[in-house]
Amino acid sequence: MLIIANWKAYVEDSARAKSLLALSKRLSRSTNNTLIIAPPAPFLATLSLGNTSTVAFAAQDVSASTGGAATGEVTARAYRAAGATYALIGHSERRAGGDTDATVAQKLSHALAQGLTPILCIGEHERDSEGRYLSVVREQLSSAYTNLTAGERKRVLVAYEPVWAIGKTAQAAIGASDLSEMILYIRKVLSDFLPGKTSARTPILYGGSVEAGNAKTLAASTGIDGFLIGHASVDADSFATLVTQLS
Ligand code: PGA
Repeated sequence: MLIIANWKAYVEDSARAKSLLALSKRLSRSTNNTLIIAPPAPFLATLSLGNTSTVAFAAQDVSASTGGAATGEVTARAYRAAGATYALIGHSERRAGGDTDATVAQKLSHALAQGLTPILCIGEHERDSEGRYLSVVREQLSSAYTNLTAGERKRVLVAYEPVWAIGKTAQAAIGASDLSEMILYIRKVLSDFLPGKTSARTPILYGGSVEAGNAKTLAASTGIDGFLIGHASVDADSFATLVTQLS
């Protein structure tokens, strides 16, 4: 399984960052999972320096700018130079901060241009009985993929993260059958953008209250390729239990 630890702004000191990285290194040796850490930007370079493990690093976002007079922005190129090989793009917490579908498309192309593998985050705010949430997902995917080249489209990973399920407890996460249906739906939409069987090769991840109590069930019965884990990734015991269960 592909496991992305999204530390969000939970980790604010380097001692904690280093100890969580050490845990991920151990877990990457003792399980068959691929681990990727998305730390707050200032920790990225220190953590990735001299890293010889299979743990990889992701930016939590990239700037919509490509450098120059943009105080406070961290560009895709700077993330790449600091050791990131992946980038979360379009996380709902960035969308809540003002990122539109157009901004997300722009950030996606900056990340790709710098050789970062984008993890495109999509997901509806709420579920309704008329299926409008499916159009939300379709629209987010379409606007992200439309302007990409055929080669770029193949490099994108998709993380389905329904906003209603983020930051809660395992009980609030999606059920396995709803997740299976959503994966099929996402693959159907992707087939409009990726030729033939290539859409089946895009890794699809799930995020939203994945904890040690539900990860295994969601992994076993849905066809998901991995998870994006927020709060449970900064709790050493929970994270170790969760990752070990998935190997
Ligand atoms: P959560 O966050 O695991 O705390 O729900 C997931 C995410 O937002 O990536």
